[in-house]
Amino acid sequence: MLTEEQRKEIREEMGRFPDAQSALLGALRIAQSEKGYVDNDSLVEIADLFSLSPAEVYGVASFYQMIRQEPVGTWHIQFCTNVSCSLAGAPRILEHLKSLLAISEGEVTPDGLFSLECVQCLGACGSAPVMMVNDELHERLDEEKISGIIGYLKKRGTPHE
Ligand code: FES
Repeated sequence: MLTEEQRKEIREEMGRFPDAQSALLGALRIAQSEKGYVDNDSLVEIADLFSLSPAEVYGVASFYQMIRQEPVGTWHIQFCTNVSCSLAGAPRILEHLKSLLAISEGEVTPDGLFSLECVQCLGACGSAPVMMVNDELHERLDEEKISGIIGYLKKRGTPHE
């Protein structure tokens, strides 16, 4: 469900375009900002705001990889498995990461702290292998670096603590 603030932001986004539907992707990003994914209620509310059917909004949401429709962890990890990162050792490091978190790709840890998604290129091939944790890019990864990052985040808990 959208917050009042999100509804306001979405209306502002719609006002920026001559054709309000051009703001649909922006609206989905705003809806995702609160919980890290767009729940069904929010999707229906967005459809209502744009005078579209929920199926049309779902079509757009499911087209873009950055729009998620499943809950994510407090720390959402996007791990690059594309060519440059793979050549730099991403598959081995990914296995290490999975064993540290005890989850597979597409899963959330039982405490809700971490989720893991494999993605195709984060645009930082020059410093491969890389991953994003929420909005932060981590570069030139190896097993030791991954262990340090996960250990730190486990201690830190939520981003706001
Ligand atoms: S291939 Fe991993 S960032 Fe481009």
